[in-house]
Amino acid sequence: MTDPVRPGLLEQIRFLHELGVDALRLPGIPVPAGNAETDTVSSLEAVRANLGECTRCALSKGRQTIVFGVGNPSARLMFIGEGPGEEEDRLGEPFVGRAGKLLDRMIAAIGLSREQVYIANIVKCRPPGNRNPREDEIAACFEFLVAQIESIQPRALVALGKVAASVLLQDPIAITHARGQMREFRGIPLMLTYHPAYLLRQYTRANRQAVYDDLRQVKALVDQAGSG
Ligand code: URA
Repeated sequence: MTDPVRPGLLEQIRFLHELGVDALRLPGIPVPAGNAETDTVSSLEAVRANLGECTRCALSKGRQTIVFGVGNPSARLMFIGEGPGEEEDRLGEPFVGRAGKLLDRMIAAIGLSREQVYIANIVKCRPPGNRNPREDEIAACFEFLVAQIESIQPRALVALGKVAASVLLQDPIAITHARGQMREFRGIPLMLTYHPAYLLRQYTRANRQAVYDDLRQVKALVDQAGSG
C-alpha cells in the first residue's frame, strides 16, 4: 500500500514536534520526550538552583529557610505576597500560617486549590520581626521573582497587599484605594487586592466581599483566556 501521507509531510510534522508542537499526531511518529509541563518544572528548578543558598542580602543572616514558592509550575494564576513570616521561615513554604489558611480559603472560594495556583513572595527570606522588606532586599530578590514568573507564564497575577503591589508596579500605592484595580506587570494582567493578614485584622463583611470580587474577576479573566 502506498503511503497515504503527502511526501515530505512526515518530515514537516517531525520538525514541528521538535519545536514543541505536539498537537499534530500521526501513527508511527512518537510524541517527543519533552513537553511544556516538564519544561516548566525544569526551568523553575533552574531558577531555584541559580538562587542557591543565597547570601545576596542581609536577610540571609536571620533566616532558617529560603521560601522559594509553592504550587503548580504551569499555574494559570499566580499569587505574590510580601515575605515569609515565622511559620513560613520554619517550614520553607509560603503562606502556611494564619494568613496562609485564609489565603487557602480565598483560593477555594474561586474554585481553585493551592496545588493549582502558584504562590510566591517579593522576598524569599523572612525579614526580622516581620518588618517590611527594605529596598536593597527587594532588589536582590527581584530577578528571581521575575524568573519564576517567566518560567510559569501565568495568565494573571494577584498582588497581595501594598508591598507586593507597589514593588510590581514600581510605584508606592495605597492598597485601600488601589485594590480592585486590574493593572499589568510586564504584559501580564495584575490584580491588586488586600493581603490576607490585613483581612484578618480588618475582618469586615465589606472587605471579605471586596477580596472575593477581586479574585472572581481575575479568575474570570484567566478562564476567558481559554485552556492550555
Ligand atoms: N505573608 C506573606 O506575605 N507571605 C507569606 O508567605 C506569609 C505571610
